[in-house]
Amino acid sequence: MPVVGTRVPRVDGYERVSGRAVYAGDWKQRGMLYGEVVTSTRPHALVLSVNVGGATRVPGVEAVLTCKELRIKWSEGDPARSRMLLEEHVRHVGEPVATVAARSRYAAREAADRVLVEYEDLPAVYEPEESLKPGAPQLWPEGNLRQIQRYDRGDLEKGFREADFVFEDTFRTSRFNNCPLEMGASLAWWTGDYLTVVAATQNVTGTRGGLAEDLHIPLSKVRVLGLFKGGGFGNRNAVLNHDLLAAALSRKTGKPVLLEFTRYNEFVSSHSRWPTLQHYRVGVKSDGTLTALHLKAYADMGAYHRRNPEMPHIRGPPEYYRCPNMKLEVYSVYTNTPPTGSMRAPPAVAGCFGSESLMDEVAGELGIDPVEFHLRNYILKADNKDEYTSNGLPECIKTGADAIKWNMIWHPPGKGPVEESMRHGVGMSIGGWAARLVPGAAVVRVNRDGSAHVVVGVTDIGGGAKTVMSMMAADSLGIPLRNMKITWGDTDACPMAVGESGSRTTTNMGLAVRAAAEDAKRQILDKASQLIDAPIDMLDIREGEVIRKDEPEVRIDLARVTEAMPGTIIGKGATDPKIPEGKARFSFAAHFAEVWVDVEVGRVSISRYVAVHDSGRIINPLTAESQVQGGVTMGLGLALSEELVVSKETGYVDNPTLWNYKVPGQLDVPKIEVHFIETDEPFGPKSLGEPPIVPVCPAVSNAVFNAIGSRVREIPMTPERVLAAMNRDQKARS
Ligand code: MOS
Repeated sequence: MPVVGTRVPRVDGYERVSGRAVYAGDWKQRGMLYGEVVTSTRPHALVLSVNVGGATRVPGVEAVLTCKELRIKWSEGDPARSRMLLEEHVRHVGEPVATVAARSRYAAREAADRVLVEYEDLPAVYEPEESLKPGAPQLWPEGNLRQIQRYDRGDLEKGFREADFVFEDTFRTSRFNNCPLEMGASLAWWTGDYLTVVAATQNVTGTRGGLAEDLHIPLSKVRVLGLFKGGGFGNRNAVLNHDLLAAALSRKTGKPVLLEFTRYNEFVSSHSRWPTLQHYRVGVKSDGTLTALHLKAYADMGAYHRRNPEMPHIRGPPEYYRCPNMKLEVYSVYTNTPPTGSMRAPPAVAGCFGSESLMDEVAGELGIDPVEFHLRNYILKADNKDEYTSNGLPECIKTGADAIKWNMIWHPPGKGPVEESMRHGVGMSIGGWAARLVPGAAVVRVNRDGSAHVVVGVTDIGGGAKTVMSMMAADSLGIPLRNMKITWGDTDACPMAVGESGSRTTTNMGLAVRAAAEDAKRQILDKASQLIDAPIDMLDIREGEVIRKDEPEVRIDLARVTEAMPGTIIGKGATDPKIPEGKARFSFAAHFAEVWVDVEVGRVSISRYVAVHDSGRIINPLTAESQVQGGVTMGLGLALSEELVVSKETGYVDNPTLWNYKVPGQLDVPKIEVHFIETDEPFGPKSLGEPPIVPVCPAVSNAVFNAIGSRVREIPMTPERVLAAMNRDQKARS
């Protein structure tokens, strides 16, 4: 019986829930030191001098490195600017300016606190629109504008001329932190000129490459080892400052150094999702057909942006609507605020919130049911040109509407059931994420006893990659899952891996794993055909036995074959899958939320949530379902409670703690109902890591609008913002 398609608990579930799982910060090396960073107390300044005298006198301190002496460029820190690991020109509060290593973490903290930094303050700017004005403080010699991203489709003006109605609106999204439970941590040591880094990373291959590049050492001299992960949502997807700083401290002291970020460092020294401001203008016919859409937006990059300039900063409208005329302009601007970078569906969360809130508003103005409105406008071909390899979006919309009983519970905005101060509402949103294909490689080794070992450089940041890789390898080889072991996340052992980014692990690494298992299987069947004297194409391996397909009673134990070929069965898989010319791959979703809004205090409670996804073939429904529930939970945090607040007076983060940066816990979210539309996708699975977070904010905000008849145009929709929206509309009416 194939295991793919069945609900399989995680192969490492026992370690995860019993506390035995080992994370980067847990690893011990003899004689290791502990690192800490000293961070800037100024939003914008030049470091004039650093006095380390007090720090070096703390007992147990073995090294202090400052921005004056450690001149290492961190290439991944901002691919569009030259960013140093420790900066003399600090651009935000919380930026590392020095680092120390000591024999205990307490001594390291003590020493870090005694490093005295003398600054020359520079004027600072905290808002993108301010930052673009002439005379604004300049963060970079190249200017504060990082880039303008444009998209054009059709003829915008013609589209507006064809419209019966034109609507305009503005939406804002806040600064959200990735907030993995595990802190960023790296343990580095040198064996001669050979560097090993145990890293809390989503990408061992990329981290290895980044260490080699920035430290100017050959790739062959670097090993990166990933252990268990306490999450990773884009903020761990390449070499990080703590990886490089740990390596530098270790080189200086000759000892292993563990540098583990604090939660403060995670909030302010690491990166968050960038805030956006989105002005929309949309043209529509009276039957609800979209004719034109214009977006002008600002994206606040903070002091640094840890993504390549090719990466978009707002995504959505061109991917969701067949509207023939569109123009997008996104201005990405530096400010003296904490750095930004990838976080689960980086540009899509903001773009989906803006555009799907807008569509809900248009549907409301025209008196069209939002489900009906979406069915009239959702995209049919990618960019109106390329056929999708598979497209389950209409099914997602219909299935979700049925599941939540849309036709029974939807009502015109503000006209629903009332229970004391509570108002009922229901909302929906579509969304999704491109499902790109990239090369992958894997090895499957078959042991003498017929058990096997898949060797693949996944990191398993929480989605269950170890389990899914093991399942695919076991099925392709024809052995039970219990006989398949996995080695993962080690650049010394595993072939090149793309890293767990862009929701591509299951497809890309899975294809390689399958190819490797099939290669091993061919070798075994070749030998078996001699042993049982049958042509190779008549043979197969099932449940750990070699069988004759036409005479299933002719069978021998796999171990009898593998014993005859000891230690020689190594299957290799290197795949470079290509999307056929003129085709596109996209993972689709439709989400539905039912809410009750307390109009006295502005609090939003979610009473039901339905998420429907087309992610192609589902390999493991159990982990896929929890992937969706995790994504929705994370999205509900952005929708309702999470916001990293940066003071516009001081540049300080007001809430750099889990106490007042409100990540939802299990008790804060309802049961999340998950459905999959398993489309006939030629490559099997499509993406599922990022899609579940994309439609959450607009589904909830549209439900809030349906409840109170007032639109909250900013996420998170805190009670203050809900009340403010109601007051605004009340004033406008009176
Ligand atoms: Mo990610 S946000 O695909 O590393």
